[in-house]
Amino acid sequence: MSENAQTVFLNGQFMPIEEARVPVLDRGFIFGDGVYEVVPVYRGRPFRWQQHLKRLSGSLAAIDIENPFDDTGWTDLVYELIKRHPWADQFIYIQVTRGVAKRDHAFPKGVKPTVFAMSSEFSPVPEQLRETGVRAISLPDERWFHCDIKSISLLGNVLAKQEAVQAGAFECVMFRDGYLTEGSSSNIWVVRNGKLFCPPRDRLILEGVRMSLVDELCQIVDIDLDIRRITREEVQQADELLLSSATRELLPITTLDGQPVGNGRPGPLYAKLYDAYQVAKLR
Ligand code: PDD
Repeated sequence: MSENAQTVFLNGQFMPIEEARVPVLDRGFIFGDGVYEVVPVYRGRPFRWQQHLKRLSGSLAAIDIENPFDDTGWTDLVYELIKRHPWADQFIYIQVTRGVAKRDHAFPKGVKPTVFAMSSEFSPVPEQLRETGVRAISLPDERWFHCDIKSISLLGNVLAKQEAVQAGAFECVMFRDGYLTEGSSSNIWVVRNGKLFCPPRDRLILEGVRMSLVDELCQIVDIDLDIRRITREEVQQADELLLSSATRELLPITTLDGQPVGNGRPGPLYAKLYDAYQVAKLR
């Protein structure tokens, strides 16, 4: 297999990515009717896998799609995908849609979900970006009220990310009714006076698998964490801002809306948490 060849899983079979085909009437294509997961793999092992599995079954249950596999089935599938690729560090993308049916908004009866999974090489954030931190812009959160479901209907997130990119930023920091929600594809953390804050895990954000991880890391490195609603002013006056996601791990935001965050450099809480993250992922 060439270095970059990708084998994907589609509806029970492994095949080269170029050969994978989904019918045009798949409800994922027609309605965005499905859910997904992104799972980092370090040294051949999926990281925080149980948490990803639990979130996947929660997302499926939330939109009434029967889980096509039990935990063992998913685990076997993911390890098989990992084994078929040469990279030590990978990320797995899993997508389940309601399946293929005549176009009608209501759920079709007796349809089998479409199951797709692929692996890509994990490309870490360039070291230089970790040293400088990244730029972000603030935006109104214009998404729906079920951001807790990891839905493939990502138009709101896509438009927000594009606005950030067009403004020369790496990510956006979104607010609803004056309170912090999250980024377009990441959770946001605020540091003030040596303490870490993050928004409540309600329907207005996706509860990242890294959220419970950061909770644990805070205990290990002795950082106070406060989970509560955070105002725009508190974000603007932050000493540090961080983002977290499966693909970016933890990353400092050092410029918000063109203004430096704190002293404009990655801060001490970021450094502590990032080091603890690196230890945790290789345990
Ligand atoms: N996105 N919030 C949103 C809206 C996200 O899309 C993501 C992740 C997160 C962080 O979740 P986690 O820690 O489980 O990665 C929060 C993935 C990486 C993506 O869509 O590619």
